[in-house]
Amino acid sequence: MTKRIALVTGGTGGIGTSICKQLHDDGYQVIAGYYSGGNHEKAQAWQDQMKADGYDIAVAYGNIRDFDSCQTCIDGIRKDFGTIDILVNNGGITRDTTLKKMSPEHWDDVIATNLTSVFYMTRLVINDMLEQKWGRIVNISSVNGEKGQFGQANYSAAKAGMYGFTKAVAQEVASKGITVNTVSPGYIATSMIMDVPEEIREQIRKGIPVGRFGKPEEIARVVSFLAGEENGFITGANISANGGQYMH
Ligand code: CAA
Repeated sequence: MTKRIALVTGGTGGIGTSICKQLHDDGYQVIAGYYSGGNHEKAQAWQDQMKADGYDIAVAYGNIRDFDSCQTCIDGIRKDFGTIDILVNNGGITRDTTLKKMSPEHWDDVIATNLTSVFYMTRLVINDMLEQKWGRIVNISSVNGEKGQFGQANYSAAKAGMYGFTKAVAQEVASKGITVNTVSPGYIATSMIMDVPEEIREQIRKGIPVGRFGKPEEIARVVSFLAGEENGFITGANISANGGQYMH
């Protein structure tokens, strides 16, 4: 059987890198989607490092905020590798600030990058998946989409929006062998949480019952589970992995 093809957006980032490695170890042909403001050298260096570490992972450029760029990215993957079987919508940004200071730009940037992109990418792969009657879509949301977070009205709204999208699309494609789920990481030790001022970060850490930040590999394991051939009965679900920070 030929390898299933998995595309991970934001694949060269903190959690993305772990997801790519895990899916590679699961036996898929993995493609890491990257934007990095068009810094192709950075992506090349990432790919070289992966190769040196024993991971044969392809990279594909695409601006997930731009429908045409997503289309070009997916057309290229289709031509070079074939139909995308597994899509992990992982790319995202933060623009943290309290609402009283939030500009329309802070809002639009986060909604476009974290939520509209999920529509673009899913829309562009769904017809192939419907045709082949198999697919896995995993959307990476956040504990802060579940509970809301001070200073993240934009990010919390985008991440919460993913749940509605996931559950609606899951119903539309369930009879065609396609599952659509969300994973909601808590605070994971990546550069994204290092942007939070140290004092606030420490306060957040103290509120995590497990007593530490999560590891990217702990999120990758959940994605791997949902992407699995044998997991066709879990759809429209959300799996939280947050060290007990938020239970509901
Ligand atoms: N709850 C209640 N009050 C809070 C608070 C909280 N969680 N955090 C701060 N405050 C209070 C402060 O004590 C201060 O009070 P006073 O004015 O009475 O002194 C006030 O709010 C500060 O308000 P400002 O609007 O002036 O805020 P600021 O500019 O100082 O900082 C912020 C705002 C940049 C958002 C900062 O609070 C921050 O970085 N918070 C962390 C946000 C966060 O958790 N981001 C997650 C990033 S990681 C990620 O997103 C990944 C993931 O999915 C988990």
